[in-house]
Amino acid sequence: MVMEPRTAFQSKTVMTDLVLPSETNPINNLFGGELLARMDRAASIAARRHSRRIVVTASVNHVAFNRSIPLGSVVTVEAKVSRAFKSSMEVYLDVWIEDRESGESIKANEAIYTFVAVNETGHPVKVPELVPETALEKERFDGALRRKQLSLVLAGKMKPADAKELKAIFE
Ligand SMILES: CC(C)(COP(=O)(O)OP(=O)(O)OC[C@H]1O[C@@H](n2cnc3c(N)ncnc32)[C@H](O)[C@@H]1OP(=O)(O)O)[C@@H](O)C(=O)NCCC(=O)NCCS
Repeated sequence: MVMEPRTAFQSKTVMTDLVLPSETNPINNLFGGELLARMDRAASIAARRHSRRIVVTASVNHVAFNRSIPLGSVVTVEAKVSRAFKSSMEVYLDVWIEDRESGESIKANEAIYTFVAVNETGHPVKVPELVPETALEKERFDGALRRKQLSLVLAGKMKPADAKELKAIFE
């Protein structure tokens, strides 16, 4: 298995789709669970492109539903791996809606998912390193370790005392 470092751009996955009536809540905005599913699909493709392995969703670390997405909107979900660890990968998602008249893209939401590469029996396997290139990719790469620690602490898989990079932001 080739384990050469890969860039965030190499994992970039863009999915564009409409919001249909069956996908909305009673006030005609996109149902949150539908957006989570779209983001999970895009993120899993990005993680698979990075690792070239089977990937599973390990956790949803952050979702901000900052802006509602009305019925009929054209929604674009963009996913890129922001950092790779041993077997896990953080995937950063940006969600955009398109203004019908101007065609302008408006940022609607953001999310961060963690995927783990596994073998055919579901055991974690190593993934290639990620090399950030742009300023935004570097910023996301830098924050990923403390987000991983926070997720592990909240899941009861890491002692708070061991989360050194996370603790450092409070000191
Ligand atoms: C994800 C899964 C493979 C992790 O298995 P595990 O026994 O915890 O394995 P490990 O402890 O070796 O952890 C593997 C990696 O996942 C990371 N991880 C595990 N739980 C995590 C969490 N809650 N948040 C962030 N990272 C997590 C670990 O830090 C480790 O990362 P690293 O190898 O890059 O350092 C396992 O829990 C699983 O199969 N879960 C179900 C996945 C699934 O079905 N998803 C769809 C839900 S419907």
